[in-house]
Amino acid sequence: MIAASCKPFMAATLLLLITLQLYSSPTMAVVPSKAASALLEWKSQLPSQSQALLSSWNSSSSDSAGLCSWKGIVCDAWQSVTGLNLIHVPINGTLRGLNFSSLPNLTMVVLVN
Ligand SMILES: *[C@@H]1O[C@H](CO)[C@@H](O)[C@H](O)[C@H]1NC(C)=O
Ligand SMILES: *[C@@H]1O[C@H](CO)[C@@H](O)[C@H](O)[C@H]1NC(C)=O
Ligand SMILES: *[C@@H]1O[C@H](CO)[C@@H](O)[C@H](O)[C@H]1NC(C)=O
Ligand SMILES: *[C@@H]1O[C@H](CO)[C@@H](O)[C@H](O)[C@H]1NC(C)=O
Repeated sequence: MIAASCKPFMAATLLLLITLQLYSSPTMAVVPSKAASALLEWKSQLPSQSQALLSSWNSSSSDSAGLCSWKGIVCDAWQSVTGLNLIHVPINGTLRGLNFSSLPNLTMVVLVN
């Protein structure tokens, strides 16, 4: 009887521990890479309407896989940013605020404005 009534409690405790483990594990934390930080910094300098067009560019999706799925970002097979293709994104602004040193593998930039 005791064992049977303990099971759900233990299962719940185990689930809680697993959940805590997931949230506290350093590998789960999203730490923006230099590339992501440079792109977010550049985005923050754009007019707000332009920033709104880049809503996928956000710190919660800034791990390497997330970064490579940001609108207009082109990555190579090693998830290194190689291109910026904003041909279909009508943003306003200049590239002046983009820190290219943080994007050493960037070889293609397509902007039409
Ligand atoms: C870009 O600038 C043009 C002209 O000032 C304006 O009409 C347009 O709404 C702007 N677009 C964005 C996304 O800010
Ligand atoms: C952040 O980006 C992800 C996809 O890259 C998107 O699903 C999510 O809605 C975005 N968050 C915000 C606050 O815009
Ligand atoms: C740039 O590409 C090289 C070769 O693929 C790679 O070793 C390096 O880690 C990349 N750099 C960044 C910052 O992704
Ligand atoms: C640009 O990026 C490089 C490499 O990540 C960094 O050393 C430098 O401080 C950055 N410059 C600015 C102005 O943020």
